[in-house]
Amino acid sequence: MNHNSNHGGNIFAMARNLGLRPEDILDFSASINPLGPPPTALEAIRSVCDNLVHYPDSDATELRHALARYHGIAPENICAANGSTELIYLLPRLARGRRALVVAPPFSEYARALVREGWEFDYFLLSSKEDFVLSASRLELELRKGYDLLFLCNPGNPTGRLLPISEIKEIVACCSETGTFLALDEAFIDFREEESAKHFICSAGNGIVLRSMTKFFAIPGLRLGYAIGSQEIIADLAAMREPWSVNTLAQAAGVAALADSDYTVRTRQYVARERECLAAGLLEIPGLKPYQSDANYLLIEILAGPDATQLQSQLLEDHILVRDCSNFHGLNDRFFRVAVRTTEENGRLLQALRRIYA
Ligand SMILES: Cc1ncc(COP(=O)(O)O)c(C=O)c1O
Repeated sequence: MNHNSNHGGNIFAMARNLGLRPEDILDFSASINPLGPPPTALEAIRSVCDNLVHYPDSDATELRHALARYHGIAPENICAANGSTELIYLLPRLARGRRALVVAPPFSEYARALVREGWEFDYFLLSSKEDFVLSASRLELELRKGYDLLFLCNPGNPTGRLLPISEIKEIVACCSETGTFLALDEAFIDFREEESAKHFICSAGNGIVLRSMTKFFAIPGLRLGYAIGSQEIIADLAAMREPWSVNTLAQAAGVAALADSDYTVRTRQYVARERECLAAGLLEIPGLKPYQSDANYLLIEILAGPDATQLQSQLLEDHILVRDCSNFHGLNDRFFRVAVRTTEENGRLLQALRRIYA
């Protein structure tokens, strides 16, 4: 299978297949900040081009210090990476063991990383009947069966559901008891930063938080992510990384993006407002059920009408690309996901959906 077909955002392949230019497609399939990258980050990229004759700083020192200031955490608790995907692939080696539990529906790379390292794994399925809300006590019962590693994404992707930090703390405590290493994927927590378990995980010492800069700062093409954890775990992780995986342009963009606090505030307000407008518009379309979300995307269940694959094709006639969720473990062809985009773009999506459901 083409690796891209596992994900949203395969805009280049999609455009080629349709005989279109990538810019002709309105991409709701990848959940990227609709305001685009902070202009300061783009300026920073241009300003460091002369440094491309040198290897990047392999320790990403300036970036880690900027992240440390941003989060109120020591730089020794942070490891930068070529997107959080690089870290997902290092995790099975870092955690050591052979049996993992993956909360589902999950990001597909967890399973690929586990299989690559020869791990066995089970899924812990969240149910649409419970609105994809995770019950910490039910998860704890499962963990007591003996797992070496737990992959949990908060807020969940594609569900958008946020587990409050009080419940994450319970899960961390349970993982300590059962000897389970916790990989807490917070790729989309920037929209609700106050719910991040970053400080807690640093002191708990039995897991890491995975963070991505590609979604909130709209730079997926640049590749930038990082891990937060105890100094011992971060030292082990840093030793496993290949040198120079975070390039000079990404490091400079990251430092500049973190300093742009106006952008951060504007993004949170904009996305929260647009998400609620989009959800309200979707609710008015009989046959569609959007789930509550704390992130910059909405999972939608199709209660009546074409399945997600057919719906994706129909929307492509309007050059609109949504994420067909039928290949997520734990979902089926009645689910699709859309990113929250600009007011005007969300309006175009709603209009196209209204036409299909008329
Ligand atoms: C839940 C989740 N985690 C991690 C990633 C990887 O992000 P990146 O490697 O761009 O940081 C993604 C990308 O879609 C994701 O959806």
